[in-house]
Amino acid sequence: MKAPNLFKLLSLLLILNMTISCTKTETITETITEIVNDTIIETRTDTLTLHLDPALVAEGKQIFRYDTFGDEAFWSDILHIDEAILGEANGGYGVGVSPATALGVGLKVDSEALPAEVVAAIQAGQVDLNDPATTIALLQLNAVVGVKGTFDEDGAMTAVGINCALCHSTVDNSFANGIGRRLDGYPNRDLNVGAIVNLTNNKNFLADLLHVDEPAVETVLTGWGPGKFNAGLFVDGKALRPDGSIAANLLPAAYGLQGVNLATYTGWGDMVYWNAFVANLEMHGQGSFTDARLDNASQFPIAAENNFGNIVNDPDLITSKLPGLQAYQLSLTAPTPPEGSYDATAAARGKVLFNGEAQCASCHIAPIFTDAGYNLHSAEEIGIDDFEAKRSPTGMYRTTPLRGLFARMKGGFYHDGRFATLTDVINHYDTHFKLELSAQDKTDIEEYLKSI
Ligand code: HEC
Ligand code: HEC
Repeated sequence: MKAPNLFKLLSLLLILNMTISCTKTETITETITEIVNDTIIETRTDTLTLHLDPALVAEGKQIFRYDTFGDEAFWSDILHIDEAILGEANGGYGVGVSPATALGVGLKVDSEALPAEVVAAIQAGQVDLNDPATTIALLQLNAVVGVKGTFDEDGAMTAVGINCALCHSTVDNSFANGIGRRLDGYPNRDLNVGAIVNLTNNKNFLADLLHVDEPAVETVLTGWGPGKFNAGLFVDGKALRPDGSIAANLLPAAYGLQGVNLATYTGWGDMVYWNAFVANLEMHGQGSFTDARLDNASQFPIAAENNFGNIVNDPDLITSKLPGLQAYQLSLTAPTPPEGSYDATAAARGKVLFNGEAQCASCHIAPIFTDAGYNLHSAEEIGIDDFEAKRSPTGMYRTTPLRGLFARMKGGFYHDGRFATLTDVINHYDTHFKLELSAQDKTDIEEYLKSI
């Protein structure tokens, strides 16, 4: 009897050992700083440790950057964005999309995808950035972040689709403005999603879906502006806020979501839920998606009419990719603010205020900087209107995880960017919670926010 038991134990140890050896561990350290007699002292350290399978993370990275989930069926077959990029001269319609136009609507170019001779040609000014044919060449090199072209044997572009990276990656501008190394997880706050969709010569499709006319579609698409998108539009048809202005939310970060329960500004579900939602309902990939909440025709008329809560595709090009996407997003820890980008002494004082007198940490708890558990609050609690909250099945706002704030300063703060600066956010809390912060306190909190 002893021998088989020992064998079992040995094989168990072997399995455990293998699991450990192929696990990536990431540690995020949160140091609690206090100031005593003007001296900064570090008093406590919380750690957030992630164990991720590197093979799954690598698979997820490919999916996040390059997978279209078959969404060419929407972006090309229905909206004809491929033909808009080509332009009449190359067999499409219109003037085409030159690299200059593409960069102008916030699209980014991955410099690492460019071969040395292309880099040299750009540097020598020999590449025509006003010719749509150059954009097609960049797409063929897989160098346009978030847009994937399909090419036939003769090198002709037959379709385009979009990737997660379109909205949730940018570049470091190391080569030129808009051209550089990829920064995955950073929201692209330059990207004008509406202007890109508006390239379609089939607005009729969107007009029919939303039960409006084509000029209304155009007004909405051109009204979102850079860095924003209305993810709820295709389920509830709400294009306007109650005051008649155009509704759109800021593209959020896809980094710093470790330990965060509900995702999206209004907590539709967790990250995995939302990944499936967005791949099926926003990108219009070919997958499966279930959410009985979308059958509620009074809240989600467009979704209920089109059965968006019960999507089945065969083959399903999304579901098998959800584990990889999850692993990759969890590997995207929030970036560390560059040294010198904030005043460290003021930030240390701000941290004490954030965790104490200013009551910020009653919701934004380190190291995750959102509530631990059910991270939602009513509009009333945070002192804003409930228009956007009411569009979600939760009816609430999710406490935004604050790590890496410095890398998403463009476009403002809160879901719709209503506060232009961090000062405005802090002033809002000061008034709403009657905090009576001094001018110095406010600056200190702001420096702390820039440091996390
Ligand atoms: C067209 C732009 C666009 C594309 C493409 C896109 N997203 Fe998003 N994403 C958004 C917007 C806008 C939101 C915010 C939605 C809201 O709360 O209103 C969001 C929210 C998220 C969130 C929640 C972040 C948080 O703070 O909780 C995650 C996670 C996410 N997206 C992942 C993905 C993944 C994975 C893909 C690819 C399958 C993807 N997104 C594709 C625009 C996009
Ligand atoms: C009652 C819970 C609660 C408290 C207390 C709270 N927040 Fe928030 N915070 C939220 C919620 C919810 C949001 C999301 C609001 C939205 O997107 O409309 C948010 C958003 C933010 C944002 C915007 C992040 C972004 O990327 O748009 C900042 C910055 C912020 N809070 C800082 C603070 C500071 C500083 C304090 C203390 C003075 C504080 N919060 C107190 C719940 C809270």
